[in-house]
Amino acid sequence: MVEVEGLTKVFSTPRGNVVALKDVSFSVKKGELVVVCGPSGSGKTTLLSIIGGLTRPTSGMVMVNGTYLNSLTFAELASFRLQNLGFAFQFSGLIPSLTLRENLILPLLLKNKKTTNMRRIEELAKELKLTSRLNSYPSEISGGEARRAALIRALANSPPLLLADEPTGDLDEESANLIEKVLKGFNQKGTTIILATHDKKLAQIASRIFYLKNGSLVN
Ligand SMILES: Nc1ncnc2c1ncn2[C@@H]1O[C@H](COP(=O)(O)OP(=O)(O)O)[C@@H](O)[C@H]1O
Ligand SMILES: [Mg+2]
Repeated sequence: MVEVEGLTKVFSTPRGNVVALKDVSFSVKKGELVVVCGPSGSGKTTLLSIIGGLTRPTSGMVMVNGTYLNSLTFAELASFRLQNLGFAFQFSGLIPSLTLRENLILPLLLKNKKTTNMRRIEELAKELKLTSRLNSYPSEISGGEARRAALIRALANSPPLLLADEPTGDLDEESANLIEKVLKGFNQKGTTIILATHDKKLAQIASRIFYLKNGSLVN
């Protein structure tokens, strides 16, 4: 499902170059639930962004679901994302001027799937205890609720691959448990998941764990 080889990412900043990833190679098979662990600044978000086609690597190869991302234009990457993956960001990324319901419908509209999948969203909202918040705006809900909503949005189109960046970071136990349950459920039904986290409890659901340190994979 995912193959990366020799992935390196260097950010140029006014204070010099920052090497966020250094020669990272691994592959993830369809149906796996892989956790990427590592301290803050070790490159987890950069790695997920590259796999999700949001950031281009400085060098190295990325293949997701049979497609080489390196050769795609930005427009092609956008349509690739819509077809192949859901991304639950470290910060919820909900659109502030839309209600939760509107935020959650957005990926369906983009993919023309509104009629078939709306019920799915209602079910997920129920499972994640968000039903009573669907008419609220992002500014009116808690951090835990926003993170749960972001997860539903990422899963709305039933993507073959889910990328989740610290989905339970700084959350209360109830929210974290709900999120864990939904991730497990989707994985059991076949969704491949790559999860960045330093939540040791959440990491236990992984079939494999990768450790990143200063941008390199370590054992
Ligand atoms: N857009 C950027 N510009 C410059 N440096 C960045 C940028 N994004 C990330 N970095 C740097 O790359 C390194 C890895 O960051 P990140 O991938 O966010 O790590 P993590 O998610 O593990 O905390 C850090 O040193 C960070 O400061
Ligand atoms: Mg991060």
